[in-house]
Amino acid sequence: MALVLVAGVVGGVAGWRAAWLSSAIAAATFVLLAGGLWWVRNRLNAVRKHQRSTYRLIESLLRQQKSLHRHQKAVAAAVSAAGRAQRAETRHAHRSVAKAVGGRTNALAKQIEHAAEQEADRSRRQADRMFRQLEALQNLYQLIRVRRAMPPSRGWALSPDVLLSYVEEILRGEPRTVLECGSGASTVWAAYAVELLGSGRVVALEHDQEFAERTRTTLAGHGLADVADVRLAPIAPIDVPAGTWQWYDTAALHDLHDIDLVLIDGPPKPTHRQARYPAVPVLRDRLAPGAVLLLDDADRPDERAILHRWRSEWPELTWNKLPHEKGTARLVVPRARSGGTDTPP
Ligand SMILES: C[S@@+](CC[C@H](N)C(=O)[O-])C[C@H]1O[C@@H](n2cnc3c(N)ncnc32)[C@H](O)[C@@H]1O
Repeated sequence: MALVLVAGVVGGVAGWRAAWLSSAIAAATFVLLAGGLWWVRNRLNAVRKHQRSTYRLIESLLRQQKSLHRHQKAVAAAVSAAGRAQRAETRHAHRSVAKAVGGRTNALAKQIEHAAEQEADRSRRQADRMFRQLEALQNLYQLIRVRRAMPPSRGWALSPDVLLSYVEEILRGEPRTVLECGSGASTVWAAYAVELLGSGRVVALEHDQEFAERTRTTLAGHGLADVADVRLAPIAPIDVPAGTWQWYDTAALHDLHDIDLVLIDGPPKPTHRQARYPAVPVLRDRLAPGAVLLLDDADRPDERAILHRWRSEWPELTWNKLPHEKGTARLVVPRARSGGTDTPP
């Protein structure tokens, strides 16, 4: 405004032409200045408006940021709570698993310990049994001087402890006739014992041709063919007090009387239930007074049942168990006979 007044004064002083020019210039200047001011004011207003909207935007953004922050905090708190819950759950699960596994481990450790103790006991018993068998074998070789290697004992054959009792029974009882049900190593040992006595004979019943041949060959190899006679006696049906059984063909017994000692070690189990039962009812009348019967494997259920039958059918038989690995029953026929062919047991 001061500039407009100055321009008017200058125009008046310079004359009307100059004054017109000056006025025009002043007016133009005024217009320009006013327009500029108006533009500037407008721009300033626009800027202020923009500034205000920017402030509002910033405020809204700040509000959003605050809400976002709150939301973030809530999410973080939820995540942390979930983490804590998960950790607690994991700890709990670990503890339960550890408890369960620990309990199971303890039970397992106890089982292993128990099994180990049982195994140790079993090994000790086995070692004891083996030692007794070796002792018996040594005693056997003290009693009998054999000329060749002997067939294996134990397993299918008699064990050394039974063989020793068998040989001692022969040496002590001096039997004239020894009968074996089931041939093998026992036949060879019995033949040596009878040979040592200087009198008597061994007769072995054998249902199997191949085993009969094998035992005969072994006997011949030991020079005992004259002492022991292996008789082939195939398994055949036979009537006994308890029913019809399968046993050795009794034709093989035709010449046998006053048998002093019987070893009952056959027929093998698969031939019949209680396969050895017929020995007593069949041989009863062919036994000498005071005859001795040795039943091998007397601890097996079948043999226990057989013993029970014999004792009920012939109560005068006395018997005892010999402390052998597989159990041996020793039965003695009474000296004064109460039974016989015509007197049923
Ligand atoms: C227990 S065995 C008799 C063993 C005989 N007293 C001895 O001391 O060698 C009874 C029958 O089984 C049969 N036997 C023997 N050894 C056998 C084997 N290794 N396998 C199958 N049968 C066998 C024979 O027929 C024998 O008469």
